Amino acid sequence: MKTVRWALHAALSSMLLLSPLLASHAQAAEATAQAAAHPPGVAVASAHGLATDAGLEILRQGGNAFDAAVAVSSVLSVVEPISSGLGGGGFFLLHDAKTGRDHFIDAREIAPAAATPEAYLKPDGSFDRDRAENGPWSAGIPGLPAGLVHLATRHGRLPLTVSLEPAIRIAREGFPVYARLANGYQSRRDVMERYKGTRAVFLADGDAPEEGEILKQPDLARTLELLAERGFDGFYRGPVAKKLLAGVKAEGGRWTAGELAGYRIREREPLRFEYDGWEIVTSPPPSSGGIALAQMLQMLEPWDLAKLPQAERVHLTVEAMRRAYRDRTFFLGDPDFVKIPVRQLMSRDYAAGQRSTIHPRKATPSDLLSGEQTPMEDEDTTHFSIIDAEGNRVAGTQTVNLLFGSGMVVPGTGVLLNNEMDDFALKPGTPNAFGVMGYAANAPKPGKRMLSSMTPTFMVSKDRVAVLGTPGGSRIITMVLLGILGYADGLDAQAVAALPRFHHQWMPDAIGIERDALPDDVVAALRAMGHTVNSPREAPAGRRSSDAWGNLQTVEWDRRGNVLRGGSDPRNPVGKAAVEAVPAP
Ligand code: GLY
Repeated sequence: MKTVRWALHAALSSMLLLSPLLASHAQAAEATAQAAAHPPGVAVASAHGLATDAGLEILRQGGNAFDAAVAVSSVLSVVEPISSGLGGGGFFLLHDAKTGRDHFIDAREIAPAAATPEAYLKPDGSFDRDRAENGPWSAGIPGLPAGLVHLATRHGRLPLTVSLEPAIRIAREGFPVYARLANGYQSRRDVMERYKGTRAVFLADGDAPEEGEILKQPDLARTLELLAERGFDGFYRGPVAKKLLAGVKAEGGRWTAGELAGYRIREREPLRFEYDGWEIVTSPPPSSGGIALAQMLQMLEPWDLAKLPQAERVHLTVEAMRRAYRDRTFFLGDPDFVKIPVRQLMSRDYAAGQRSTIHPRKATPSDLLSGEQTPMEDEDTTHFSIIDAEGNRVAGTQTVNLLFGSGMVVPGTGVLLNNEMDDFALKPGTPNAFGVMGYAANAPKPGKRMLSSMTPTFMVSKDRVAVLGTPGGSRIITMVLLGILGYADGLDAQAVAALPRFHHQWMPDAIGIERDALPDDVVAALRAMGHTVNSPREAPAGRRSSDAWGNLQTVEWDRRGNVLRGGSDPRNPVGKAAVEAVPAP
């Protein structure tokens, strides 16, 4: 089987031998070559230790991976308001071991009817970026609460009063503020402090949250309780819905009771394709991730990347990224509203055609295909991965979009609203906060879902099963791509979470890299091929993108030795991957 060896691979592998989470290679090698039918326990990885612990707590109480997903998702909604929450949305990819079926729960937000393209223009016709990113007009109708209810009632075996209990407790009793939360607050405080409801949560003691202090959210605890007791109606009808409508109205926005009560999740068929002996099971539209992954991996498959110098490997990978992101711009949107040529975009013939336009040692300028250079903002969103002892698994990615979403907490609910409307092409051809553009396929319409990059994914081979995903805005898809290539190369979960990252998204026409992700000679070789490489080390002060991207959380089941492993992104010190010998109930 061909292999791919990425930069720092050797260094990471030696570092990882120290990890207590990982079974040693020797252990795996000694074990029988016979593939095991069931995992030896459970594995959970998420961006916060309290969420991972909540998942384990529910599994110990006899819940399955889907109940654990409710617990992890809801605790992340409490402890990571920076990334996701009840006021946002998410995608959940499920594997049901009993039926052998995979399911995709689309709990993405939808556009309210008032949010027409014209609503985001200033009187002079220019784009109103403040409206698109901040406050009530930036928010879609939330989907996450409906997603949790659906997960619990259709796939779980415990009542919501049990699986939401950890989130209710932590919202009420509080949790210690960590550096990313405190720093994120500072970077968004101008916007957040516009809103009475936000001030009530984050300035409750008179000061902005500081690392180490306990943040309590009693209103959010009550909202979660109503969701636990009344299910869908606890959020989308009754007192919470009334407060959401009144709070949005008080800040100048326009939602209707019918839009809340009419919100529905969608169960969609996951996308699947083969890559290098693995079946990749991944996210369909309105995620742009699955189609882009299929395009990129099928473009790359014939090359034996491991045999090439690193600069050429990165070059070819970047060229595949460039072509997939160009198609994202023009073709992808909500499949309930637009016809997407999924079969064509995912076909091997189409990939072969795109591959034939890649010069082996020369960058294709993106402006041959037209477009504008744009800056990219920082991302947020969060991901968790779960495998239980029956072999059920969940990849969940959820978001409020940018740091702290719209910045607006609805008074009396503790619910921080998303700013997902910016993921629509609100003005055709105008880049959003991630620098990605769109046209008619992703134009806003009442009830339509905005295109997403969230890409929860499974990889299944004869011997191994992996669950992975990450936040990262438009870089999510390329981080998942690098993760897939890492697993395909034989890396384990922790090494995959730690992989150095690079990204290209067609426009802006530049390779972005994490600080020190590529050695200087590789950067120089890429530049000689005609690539622009934006290295944070070289950027002028004040114009630096983040040094580290993403927050990849992954678990794997190696069926050869019947070993579970977890990988939590080392870029995030409060994340946690855990493996435990919890038996199947
Ligand atoms: N809000 C980021 C995404 O869904 O892609």
